[in-house]
Amino acid sequence: MSSSIPLVQLQNISRKYYLGKTEISALDNLNFQINKNDFVVLAGPSGSGKTTLLNIIGCIDKPSAGKVFFEEKEITDTPLEKLNHLRLQNIGFIFQSFNLIPVLTAFENIELPLLFKGYDEKTIKDLAEKFLQRMGIADKMHQKPANLSGGQRQRLAIARALAGNPSLIIADEPTASLDRKNAIAIIELLRELNDELGVTIVLASHDQMIIDHAKTKLFMQDGKVVNV
Ligand SMILES: Nc1ncnc2c1ncn2[C@@H]1O[C@H](COP(=O)(O)OP(=O)(O)OP(=O)(O)O)[C@@H](O)[C@H]1O
Ligand SMILES: [Mg+2]
Repeated sequence: MSSSIPLVQLQNISRKYYLGKTEISALDNLNFQINKNDFVVLAGPSGSGKTTLLNIIGCIDKPSAGKVFFEEKEITDTPLEKLNHLRLQNIGFIFQSFNLIPVLTAFENIELPLLFKGYDEKTIKDLAEKFLQRMGIADKMHQKPANLSGGQRQRLAIARALAGNPSLIIADEPTASLDRKNAIAIIELLRELNDELGVTIVLASHDQMIIDHAKTKLFMQDGKVVNV
């Protein structure tokens, strides 16, 4: 069960892109709320606006119109640079292509954002070990991403996202680069972590198996949520 305490609220959100003189309406007047501890899957065809919406929820993009609230505080007019702090403290990202830093070891990939957050060395070591262990890749601690399998790389990306104790995890097609077995393992792991840590997860996927793991399903089409 998710709570009914709002984490992110979106009111009348639109996002337009301009390609020359052509206007593309990527999001068209969306309204919804993501509650704490929810596990939301955004489903819908390619081009329906899932990534655009995740970018707004993750405070890496701004809507062209509408209001955004994070923990009931309005952030609509807060400049993106000022939202860096909020993002660093509260939000973890998981991507289809993992976005790990190739020259750093697994441990160092987790360490880097924690250094930015100002954690001390001992705390970082404890957190990195704890999450590498939890993800089943403790033995890969000193390996670089190139020496890990796809599933192990995504586990490392999840460990990195979680180690900073975010209230929200945003995952854009996190299983799309994985084979079936690893995709199932990763989605089950994310669901377990959602229960275990209480972290809110918002994920975009076209995959019915992933959609079936949602607590809340949002189907998007042409920049609109067609059911809530
Ligand atoms: N930077 C951009 N400039 C112009 N148009 C864009 C840009 N980013 C996205 N779009 C357009 O906005 C619409 C929504 O794109 P978005 O990437 O959000 O879709 P999506 O649902 O994530 O698709 P996919 O499943 O393929 O990842 C599409 O029509 C896309 O072409
Ligand atoms: Mg996308």
